Amino acid sequence: MGYLIAGNWKMNGSIAFAREITAALKAKAAHAPKATVALCPPAPLLAEVAAALKGTPIVLGAQDCHFAEKGAHTGDVSATLLKEIGCRYAIVGHSERRADHGETDALVQRKAAAALRAGLTPIICVGETDAERERGETGAVIARQMRGSVPETATVATCVIAYEPVWAIGTGKTATIADIEPVHAQIQALFAEAGRASAGLAILYGGSVKGSNAAAILACRGVSGALVGGASLDAEDFWRIVTACP
Ligand code: PGA
Repeated sequence: MGYLIAGNWKMNGSIAFAREITAALKAKAAHAPKATVALCPPAPLLAEVAAALKGTPIVLGAQDCHFAEKGAHTGDVSATLLKEIGCRYAIVGHSERRADHGETDALVQRKAAAALRAGLTPIICVGETDAERERGETGAVIARQMRGSVPETATVATCVIAYEPVWAIGTGKTATIADIEPVHAQIQALFAEAGRASAGLAILYGGSVKGSNAAAILACRGVSGALVGGASLDAEDFWRIVTACP
């Protein structure tokens, strides 16, 4: 299994920005990156980015999806439509959605299941807050989120997990090898708990990953890529992360 570097633009960007950064990344991707590279722009930019990425190895992802296939859900986007527009991935359960929109593990699980039904690969996010970490609850939080957020139908071939310690997101604080490796090992064990094969499970790390720290993070045991926020808005820095894959 190769590495996956996914850029999560969050609520940033514009049509002009999308054109500019995809042009820059397209040129870089001409030198066949070793890793799978995905861009996850805000929903209104998906079509723009999909068109710009045509003919490149860079793929598309969404930042969220709804659990229903269609219906009366104002403001939401279905996994089916995301698939149709060209997405390969859908991030679900990002800590910002868990915090800003009160998303529970049960909801995240339904969203991930919907993504799988639509033929998308869900990137299911888990991670503890600063307070939970201080209280020594990291293991318990990861266990609760993994057991509650990963649908029964998920397999190593169809889903990706992202470990994103909330205290490291957008803060410039990066987790150390000692923070990352045990949690990644725990995530793999929890994935196997439901009687699933877990060998080769893709587990990304996310939280202030940038060009300067990517090599150290990507070399950690059990890390198979990165979910990148801030640094994905800069073509140069983002590509430094892509080329840091071992
Ligand atoms: P960051 O965000 O790289 O800006 O810390 C990571 C994420 O939230 O996916």
